[in-house]
Amino acid sequence: KTIKIRVPGTTANCGPGFDSIGIACTIYNEIEFTFTPAGPIEIVIEGEGAGLLPETADNVIIKAVQMVFDRIYSRYPHCQQSRWQGIRLHMNNAIPLSRGLGSSAAAIVAGLVAANELCGNNLNKEEILEIASAMEGHPDNVAPAVYGGITVSVAEASQVHCIRFIPKADFSMVVAIPEFNLSTKLARKVLPDSVPFQDAVFNIGRTALLVSSLYEGKLDFLQYALIDKIHQPYRSKLIPGMPEVFTAARKAGALGAALSGAGPCLIAFALSDLNKIGKAMVNTFSQHNVKAYYKVLGIDQ
Ligand code: HSE
Repeated sequence: KTIKIRVPGTTANCGPGFDSIGIACTIYNEIEFTFTPAGPIEIVIEGEGAGLLPETADNVIIKAVQMVFDRIYSRYPHCQQSRWQGIRLHMNNAIPLSRGLGSSAAAIVAGLVAANELCGNNLNKEEILEIASAMEGHPDNVAPAVYGGITVSVAEASQVHCIRFIPKADFSMVVAIPEFNLSTKLARKVLPDSVPFQDAVFNIGRTALLVSSLYEGKLDFLQYALIDKIHQPYRSKLIPGMPEVFTAARKAGALGAALSGAGPCLIAFALSDLNKIGKAMVNTFSQHNVKAYYKVLGIDQ
């Protein structure tokens, strides 16, 4: 049986909303799954990640498929599909790898959704999100990859509490994509064990303002709401020129800018001047010896 899945890239945190807020973006990986009752695992990768991602059972998509099979098999041992062995994957990837645009979340969600479809969609979206969040370690990229739009999610034990919405005003995102990778593992390693109380208070207010201004479409507030004190300052040393790129984006007309996920992509939110903002960001990166390019993205709904 062949199943085609299209899954969006995502930008997480959006400044202060560390590990909680995420936005699905109009950049996609398209994956064709062919399941056979017996046979080897074959993986063909085109686009981003070709020659880099594992083409074996170690591929995270295969692991995600297996997670669904195990869950379905334990619940419905008569389900033949959950014992299917042969998998061919044909991936056409547009989401750059290890740049802070949710490529691993997209892979996990693609595997879960495809295997679930093969097994008759026995798992609902909440369960898919819970498995994805457990695999990824935090819910903010996987939630928008599952639901589209903007998501606010909180993981608690094996549950994920998630609310998804579409903002009342449309905006674009200009993402500056440096030509170097940054692993989420490293970008989390530089974070402190605790943060000053005042910084936590600062972030709580900004996060609340961010969610409400996005929800209401009152985008003027983004200039105040996208500021973070609990992860970006610590990660700044991993991304040369980060504060200067933010300033350049705002000067070129952006409403505000933030680190995309764990980076190294930087993302600006804007209503107009999109190419001007992108060029200013790329230019500023190059002044810090970072080669970068930019893409203009919308919200995937
Ligand atoms: N919230 C996560 C982080 C997203 O910033 O580490 C990265 O995948």
